[in-house]
Amino acid sequence: MEVSLVGLSVGTWIASSLGVAARLGIADALAEGPATGAELAKAVGAHPDAIPPLLRTLAMVGVFGQDEEGRYVNSALSEQLRTDHPQSLRYLCALTGGLYFQASGGLFDAVRTGRPALPSVFGVPLYEQLERDPETAAIFDRAMEDLARPVAAALAEHYPFEGVRTVVDVGGGNGALLKGILAAHPHLHGICADRPEVCGRAEGELRRSGDQDLIDRLTFQPIDVFRECPPGADLYVLKNVLHDWSSGSAVRILSSVRDAMRAGAEQSARPVLLVIDPLVEHDAGAAIRPLIKLVIGEDRTRERSEADLRKEAAEAGLEVLSVTPLPPELTVAACALAD
Ligand SMILES: C[S@@+](CC[C@H](N)C(=O)[O-])C[C@H]1O[C@@H](n2cnc3c(N)ncnc32)[C@H](O)[C@@H]1O
Repeated sequence: MEVSLVGLSVGTWIASSLGVAARLGIADALAEGPATGAELAKAVGAHPDAIPPLLRTLAMVGVFGQDEEGRYVNSALSEQLRTDHPQSLRYLCALTGGLYFQASGGLFDAVRTGRPALPSVFGVPLYEQLERDPETAAIFDRAMEDLARPVAAALAEHYPFEGVRTVVDVGGGNGALLKGILAAHPHLHGICADRPEVCGRAEGELRRSGDQDLIDRLTFQPIDVFRECPPGADLYVLKNVLHDWSSGSAVRILSSVRDAMRAGAEQSARPVLLVIDPLVEHDAGAAIRPLIKLVIGEDRTRERSEADLRKEAAEAGLEVLSVTPLPPELTVAACALAD
């Protein structure tokens, strides 16, 4: 599509069409081969007249296509909307084109007031809204999984897990990061600590999977990270958690993890915390990040620099030992208890 103001002005409809196609599972339905609009509509529970406008809009930007008989087919881009694609972004697109798109309806006021858009649209902050809306909450968990998969692979390959027995992933969502790490390191046990609703959904899913090895080594622990964190682990992970929060809240979260690290210091010689988050210095998405925060972040949430993180860690009684970029967007900061 040629870049023009008219084209850009309908960009939100492209994002929301992508979200609808992802949520309906259209790419999965096309995995078997080409389909007419009527066949697709029947397969995904849509109205046949609504399939052409949706898919032709997306075809303009290379998502889906049509064969010589006019039937719809997957394109290279829409393949990545398939649930079974190894780098699937189905649920991330469903989230950004769904809940986040709805939240951006409050952007005008957000820009005028400097206060985040989502609470003004829904009346409550992000995680309270997710508690009210379990269907979107399940999409959110899976969207985080889409983003966690490549990070799990990188950590599993490069982090020295030999001396580690137990890993706690704080705010670990549905456990995707731990699942990837535990699969590669059979000696490890993992505890995924998150809000009770998230743990309930993830635990049920794990049991239904019947994967006995994982069931034996991965547990879910409901927490409120502002108050508690499971003690006794050698390694703690906080991935993509701090970036949701203001500096004051980040210090409270880090302090909660510090308490758990201190409480378990007898079991583990020197517990380590890995903060995996975007830091402006190494963030390929740095240009859009402030706007994301203005739409969904906590009030007064700002991008973090390495110096900001070091300051917050110090306030929480932690020392940053090393900072390693994890391209394209993340940084891994290894922290220990300050002496
Ligand atoms: C942006 S998501 C990141 C999920 C996961 N760490 C990842 O990177 O895929 C933030 C996570 O923090 C969790 N969270 C938010 N508030 C929390 C709280 N008060 N206590 C525990 N977890 C919380 C959310 O439920 C969510 O799973």
